[in-house]
Amino acid sequence: MNLMNKSGYGRPAAAIRGLRSCLVASSLWVLGAASAFAADVPHAKELRAKALEFVAPLPAAMPGAEKDTPALVELGRALYFEVALSENKSQSCNSCHRVDAGKGGVDNESTSLGAFGKRGGRNSPTTLNAGFQFAQFWDGRAEDLAAQAKGPVLNPVEMAMPSEAVVVSRLKAITGYQGQFAQAFPGVTEPITYDNMAKAIAAFERTLVTRDRFDDFLKGDDSALNAKEQRGLHEFLTLGCTSCHYGPVLGGQLYQKVGLIHPFPTEDRGRIEVTKDEDDLLRFKVPILRNIALTHPYFHNGKIATLEDAVKKMGWHQLGKELTEEQVASLVTFLHSLTDKPRAATRTASAR
Ligand code: HEC
Ligand code: HEC
Repeated sequence: MNLMNKSGYGRPAAAIRGLRSCLVASSLWVLGAASAFAADVPHAKELRAKALEFVAPLPAAMPGAEKDTPALVELGRALYFEVALSENKSQSCNSCHRVDAGKGGVDNESTSLGAFGKRGGRNSPTTLNAGFQFAQFWDGRAEDLAAQAKGPVLNPVEMAMPSEAVVVSRLKAITGYQGQFAQAFPGVTEPITYDNMAKAIAAFERTLVTRDRFDDFLKGDDSALNAKEQRGLHEFLTLGCTSCHYGPVLGGQLYQKVGLIHPFPTEDRGRIEVTKDEDDLLRFKVPILRNIALTHPYFHNGKIATLEDAVKKMGWHQLGKELTEEQVASLVTFLHSLTDKPRAATRTASAR
């Protein structure tokens, strides 16, 4: 759109956009949804300016991606889908963090089923955009994607491999990996190592950047969010959801107590298990809200089934407010605009 403006095509484009919003406005009026334009929702430009005080469009690339070569990313992709990384060859990273078939980087289970049918105590967070966060895991115990990727392979309730050495010898025995690791780590005599496996997986994960309509809105396209979504955004900002869910992924930038105002029942003690600091009791990493409509069920224990309930509980436990049905619906409408555009399209197509 900017380029078009520079080359002199700006006026017709702007006129068409103006016309489109007139049509939208009048059809909503006919439908009796005029309240969507209530005086308290500021104009798109003002709303955007307010939003940009707390959130930001997703950057073009994830931090660290500038050094990732195509060979490293391709190796990482193969390893992300590699079932040989689990003891009984039943599971890959993708089993619990589905990035294929229009899925949201999760398994949509309350708690994930591991290689031997055991379940851990926590819900699997999305791998989409995960590298934009300041730390990994609900309790932040891994500092980045590469450190994180070393965990699940050896975790007895996840991929359950007995040792790093066994993982390395398995990878060495699979045709193709010798060459792929050598290309990804040029000039290294023994490229197949546990650390290099994790580095490659992290490089692939750094490509998992999604693009949604909220970003288009933040970047200047007023019509990217309809009136109801803009109202939901206004609600989100006014209620102060952004005091915790801020930054480019609307979360992943701080730890906060779950049940800050009204206690939230859970057996999980949160970050205190990592730091042993009393102050970290019940503290969790504030989760990402990008693609939130795809990542049900919700909360660290996956006990909250719907997005409506998650939002309602946020109002009560984190803000001390009993949100009306209308407020909840409005917030949920806005949150749906955070779904990756290609994934949203897949869902619409498969729902037909
Ligand atoms: C059996 C299911 C399962 C498998 C297999 C699995 N994960 Fe996870 N993953 C989880 C769960 C559950 C968590 C949250 C655990 C916690 O926070 O304590 C998690 C957390 C993560 C996170 C942190 C995201 C965030 O926002 O904090 C990333 C990244 C991730 N996994 C990537 C991977 C990769 C890469 C692999 C393969 C090497 C993998 N996972 C294999 C279930 C799984
Ligand atoms: C005081 C900090 C804080 C505020 C304010 C807050 N949240 Fe949260 N939010 C959190 C934390 C912490 C979690 C993780 C809770 C858990 O898993 O136990 C969370 C979880 C969520 C989840 C579930 C995410 C997932 O992946 O399971 C949604 C949805 C959400 N918040 C939306 C909102 C909305 C909408 C508002 C405003 C009405 C809001 N939050 C206000 C801290 C906050």
